Amino acid sequence: MKFAVMGTGQVGRAIGSKLVELGHDVRFGSRQPVTKRDLPAPVVGYSEAASQGDWIVNALPGEQAVEILRNCQTDGKIIVDIGNYDHAVDQPIVLPLGHAIQAALPGAYVVKTLNSVSAHLMVDPAALGLPHSVFIAGNDTDAKAQVTHLLRSLGWEDVIDLGDLEACRAMEQLIPLWMALEKYIGGPDFNLFLARR
Ligand SMILES: NC(=O)c1ccc[n+]([C@@H]2O[C@H](COP(=O)([O-])OP(=O)(O)OC[C@H]3O[C@@H](n4cnc5c(N)ncnc54)[C@H](OP(=O)(O)O)[C@@H]3O)[C@@H](O)[C@H]2O)c1
Repeated sequence: MKFAVMGTGQVGRAIGSKLVELGHDVRFGSRQPVTKRDLPAPVVGYSEAASQGDWIVNALPGEQAVEILRNCQTDGKIIVDIGNYDHAVDQPIVLPLGHAIQAALPGAYVVKTLNSVSAHLMVDPAALGLPHSVFIAGNDTDAKAQVTHLLRSLGWEDVIDLGDLEACRAMEQLIPLWMALEKYIGGPDFNLFLARR
């Protein structure tokens, strides 16, 4: 499949590199493509990357994501939204990012997932050596099923469908908890597991 991975930070690099490894056709979108020579796929501007992808992965800071994605061709495409607002760490979320992206781009299929998982575990969940869970939410059932399939190809077994994008608020409000747990554990080598009957 053709993926545009928006952003070349920790998440963009991890996801984009894994997608290349899995045989997908990847374009990285970046503000400064010429300076990013160490990535395993071509790096181009954001709108060029988006125009070449059938899927778009949002690995941008939440505060910048809508503005960048608004200038991209996204109609009919799945947007895998992994983003969080930086301010979610210590401030209330007024409009969850997943909602904001979907509202700005009504022709796209936004699916929120992986936003509370450390970048290295997103693409290698087995590295933790324990069962753990990933959440997913989206308004379009088919898009969500396709993203679930993608998650399975990344190694995820416990994929918890929280329903439509209303769940973005709950998912994005996990960030203060994530930060507190990182401090408690002393690093990002952890994730949540939903113990249930
Ligand atoms: N790191 C994690 O473990 C993790 C886990 C779950 C969710 N997330 C979320 O995933 C998103 C990406 O996280 P990340 O850790 O990869 O962030 P990061 O390392 O800061 O990378 C973000 C990338 O976004 C691009 N960008 C565009 N406009 C920007 C701006 N004004 N300021 C800074 N960067 C800008 C940059 O790529 P170019 O320079 O190529 O344009 C940058 O490398 C965030 O929303 C974050 O909350 C992160």
